[in-house]
Amino acid sequence: KNLVILISGRGSNMEAIVRAAIPGARVAAVIANRPDSAGLAFAESHGIPTAVVDHKLFADRSSFDKALAETIDGFSPDLVVLAGFMRVLTGEFVDHYAGRLINIHPSLLPSFPGLHTHQRALEAGVRVHGATVHYVTADLDCGPIIIQAVVPVSDTDDEKSLSARVLRLEHQIYPQAVRWIVEGRTRIDAGRVKVEGVRT
Ligand code: GRF
Repeated sequence: KNLVILISGRGSNMEAIVRAAIPGARVAAVIANRPDSAGLAFAESHGIPTAVVDHKLFADRSSFDKALAETIDGFSPDLVVLAGFMRVLTGEFVDHYAGRLINIHPSLLPSFPGLHTHQRALEAGVRVHGATVHYVTADLDCGPIIIQAVVPVSDTDDEKSLSARVLRLEHQIYPQAVRWIVEGRTRIDAGRVKVEGVRT
């Protein structure tokens, strides 16, 4: 299966997926919307084709998404993986990749969709926090949940310590979700993800 991974910055989740070397999965390309995305260098050093589609060069969201989809489709993707990709995508884009577009979000959805999740979790006083991998639908951070990881929140946490604790688990659950999908074990049933052999 061909994976195309989209990043905007550091790319540590992309790196975790590459390093997981999932049988049957080939990272066909890493695409960034920012030319200075640090993760591009890691991909290049691993012989993975890279591309940049710079959103700043497009007049609006829909022309950017069109160019992005053309670039992605040039790599014949079976699965498009958003890994710290910080652009909101149009409904057309999401529909085009229906069922083969996934995202990782640094909170226990449906709590804290959107930005600054760790700070908001601290402000809300939640005792547990975490990360979610989900299929992408037109509503931001709302699609069917594939896997979640939970971390405790301590009274001494700040944004830095909490985000680091969550990120460690992101690096485990994202490759796991990709593995399930590549093995053909996931299906969406009435808006919920079923994973063969894991939950019924
Ligand atoms: C991760 O916490 C991801 O969940 C969020 O942005 C961060 C990206 O980190 N959407 P990286 O680029 O994968 O290192």
